[in-house]
Amino acid sequence: MQCALQAVGINKKYGALVVNKDINLDIIAGEVHAVMGENGAGKSTLMGMLFGLIKPTGGTIKLKGKDVSFSSPLDAIAAGIGMVHQSFKLFMSLTVWENITFGSEPTSMGLIARRQARQRVLELARQHNLPIDPDATVGKLPIGMQQRVEILKALYRNADILILDEPTAVLSPSERDGLLATMRSLADNGKALVFVTHKLNEVMTVCDRVTVLRKGVVTERSLVRETTADEIVTAMTGREVSKHLDRPSANLGDDALVVEGLTVGPSSKPLVDGLSLTVRSGEIVGIAGVAGNGQTELANAITGIGEMASGRIRINGTDITALSVKQRRLTGLSFIPEDRHDVGSVWNMGADINVGMGSLEKAPQSRRGIVDRAALREKAKRLISAFSVAIAGPTTKVGNLSGGNLQKLIVARELDYGSPVLVVEQPTRGVDVGAIEYIHRVLLDERTNGKAILLISSELPEILALSDRILVMYEGKFVAELDPRRTDEREIGFYMAGAKEKGRSENAR
Ligand SMILES: Nc1ncnc2c1ncn2[C@@H]1O[C@H](COP(=O)(O)OP(=O)(O)OP(=O)(O)O)[C@@H](O)[C@H]1O
Ligand SMILES: [Mg+2]
Repeated sequence: MQCALQAVGINKKYGALVVNKDINLDIIAGEVHAVMGENGAGKSTLMGMLFGLIKPTGGTIKLKGKDVSFSSPLDAIAAGIGMVHQSFKLFMSLTVWENITFGSEPTSMGLIARRQARQRVLELARQHNLPIDPDATVGKLPIGMQQRVEILKALYRNADILILDEPTAVLSPSERDGLLATMRSLADNGKALVFVTHKLNEVMTVCDRVTVLRKGVVTERSLVRETTADEIVTAMTGREVSKHLDRPSANLGDDALVVEGLTVGPSSKPLVDGLSLTVRSGEIVGIAGVAGNGQTELANAITGIGEMASGRIRINGTDITALSVKQRRLTGLSFIPEDRHDVGSVWNMGADINVGMGSLEKAPQSRRGIVDRAALREKAKRLISAFSVAIAGPTTKVGNLSGGNLQKLIVARELDYGSPVLVVEQPTRGVDVGAIEYIHRVLLDERTNGKAILLISSELPEILALSDRILVMYEGKFVAELDPRRTDEREIGFYMAGAKEKGRSENAR
């Protein structure tokens, strides 16, 4: 059996830091090959080397048995490799066909043959059963469709090897199922796929082979049908991760977060439509919903990052409706944002500054108005160790952190702030199994210690495991209120898809 693409004894070092060590990876046509590992294990780095983005320190990459050396992604693309990045590299103001054909448009007498280009895109979409409107503006498409454009772009350039780095992390459950089906059918039609994910069920259902990395070293290479989820977890973490969460019964206190009649967006087509909700101290209220039904706008309005058209928000009795983000924070609100890169962190600053953000004026980080760097370093050290963030030291810039490690650092900072009310959006997106377990435990502890937590998540198992009450959001409204002990993923999914309202009182209490 010949490999489409192979890493043979690949090494990557950054200074003294060994990120990939003697890695062997065999990618075979007709297969989906999963690459798994904890945050910072070196997965994205390995993918970057296969795609010519990162130069290996040692070892070889072979394409159909022949040594190759890519000096840039252009070489990799020319060799038939395509990559779907987690943050898309698309032109948001151009159309679908323009994006797909960009740089390799068919021409006629030196001009772009628009009709022909559009036609080719339609044919390609039909051939791979990936329907799309070629004339739609990419920026206006949902995430799942933008990702489809990325895939079609690679296929248009005749890629027969596709690298997908955490493509499912940003998708809603139905978009994810669609992508997994597409991946399977591409492989069945002879393509070779490399698929990075943290989701074991995705590996067990669509992948043929799995390679596991731990701290830059391969710890397992198996056929999926010959291994088990438990075995993979042990290979990733070196231990068994318990699936059982202890959940003491809720001890509800006063109303901590009260939202009344909140509307976001134009009254003709509101994104959040006159919502009211209350979270009491000692309670986790989970909001389930397909991405794009107003959850992010709701969170942003509560935290002050986004606008609101009307409504009132109170924290422990104080009206914060007119307050700035910073004033809301000082009143007692913490926020774990969904978008950790743009909202949550300053990439060219150290971990110490990043964990101090939002609380620089608070003692002991600052003395008489002057920021105390030593205290910040201590705080960073403490949080790095508690959340096992893989980072060289407390002053290391966060820009080079792996996705999951940056998420852990932001979660740590917000929880450490000590606010009585927490708005938590997708807290475990892109985070590995061990860290998910840890973050869940911490959130439950905070709740048991009297915090009021509003949890927004597209992961239904997470909503079910953590929430004391579940509200399902659909088109800007709550359409169901469910008791996690008396519901399941199927029922929640039913309401998420817009089925009729169920048993909610006026106040979502
Ligand atoms: N340019 C760089 N300079 C220094 N260290 C780096 C650089 N790029 C990555 N690293 C480090 O290499 C390690 C591996 O990072 P990588 O992004 O490959 O992890 P990953 O397995 O993709 O993790 P995640 O699941 O969180 O995405 C991390 O510790 C990261 O901080
Ligand atoms: Mg990564």
